[in-house]
Amino acid sequence: VWLNTAHQGALPVRAAEAAATAVRWKQAPHCLTGDRFHDIPERLRARLGGLLSVPPDEVILANSSSYGLHLIVEGFPWRQGDEVLLVRGDFPSTTLPWRRLQEEGVRLRFLEPSGGHLQASEVDAAIGRHTRLLCTTWVHSFTGHTVDVTAVGAVCRARGVAFVLNASQGVGARPLRPLELPVDAVTGVGSKWLCGPYGTGFCWLTPAFRDRLRCRRTNWLSLYTVADLEGDCTPDLPDHLRARDLDLFSTANFFNFLPWIAALEVLESSGLEAIAERDQGLVQRILDGLPRASYRLLSPAAGPLRSTLVFLTHRDPRRTPGLYARLTDAGIDVSLRRGHLRVSPHLYNTEQDIDRVLEALAGGA
Ligand SMILES: Cc1ncc(COP(=O)(O)O)c(C=O)c1O
Repeated sequence: VWLNTAHQGALPVRAAEAAATAVRWKQAPHCLTGDRFHDIPERLRARLGGLLSVPPDEVILANSSSYGLHLIVEGFPWRQGDEVLLVRGDFPSTTLPWRRLQEEGVRLRFLEPSGGHLQASEVDAAIGRHTRLLCTTWVHSFTGHTVDVTAVGAVCRARGVAFVLNASQGVGARPLRPLELPVDAVTGVGSKWLCGPYGTGFCWLTPAFRDRLRCRRTNWLSLYTVADLEGDCTPDLPDHLRARDLDLFSTANFFNFLPWIAALEVLESSGLEAIAERDQGLVQRILDGLPRASYRLLSPAAGPLRSTLVFLTHRDPRRTPGLYARLTDAGIDVSLRRGHLRVSPHLYNTEQDIDRVLEALAGGA
């Protein structure tokens, strides 16, 4: 029983078939046609654009959420003395990329949310004269709390601070429409709630934010088609940075991107609203069936802060690691994170899966 999508999403059958197709193409390389080199990235961009309700040509193709954050670290016009706000205890993908900036005189300041999760008022109080950017995860990997993006982003906009969101633990489990939110950049990993292979991800930047970046990566596949190679390909660089100019290199990444396209089509055919409803129904079943006399729920029980990451602990916390071992022995996969159990169901889980974990928890109470 896989109840650990916060670690890895399961690849849908259709996506596994697409992966097999990509392997066959490579076994018979004449199948790797020029058209396919061009089409695969564009089909993926279209799927991601649809999923996020953004124009596909604003989507950057990546291999992780870290990739997009590094683009911003590299390209943002930093000045000596600038400050970046981060959140203490956040997942390292969200905090690590900025560390190198300290060598360039950029200060990192870690917010310590008093209630355990980031509040807009705390962001407002923390922003100072030199604050240029705030980066946080949307859904916290170790608490299951969801950041109120509208409230935090509104503060950032009002104070002229760029707002960068790592949406990895939420995107795919519920709708995310960046154009309707006060965010400048969104990054995400593909291998969790988006059910893609490991080594997939995306980044979306507002065109205005992208224009501020100084990166100039020149990847031949983003400039030319295979047919263009007939010409002399004089390096005429675009004077305007497009999203595709920031794509991961080897963009026609057949083994990963062909199955990811298929996985995204599966999500799209269900619809993110319906997936969110289903996932939240599974979360509710865990909360309703949890033997409260023995266990404490640590993640939000209801409301907009609740996510699909459910954190539990035994009332005697010393017993939680033993319970984790008990679940593993019973063939039930959850995570043990910072001493607590993390159960994270997604669309392929059934009510029976939830009942199995509840039975095992009751048995170990
Ligand atoms: C919030 C968050 N971001 C990112 C990742 C994965 O990192 P990356 O996308 O850089 O591989 C994880 C993985 O657990 C995560 O919890």
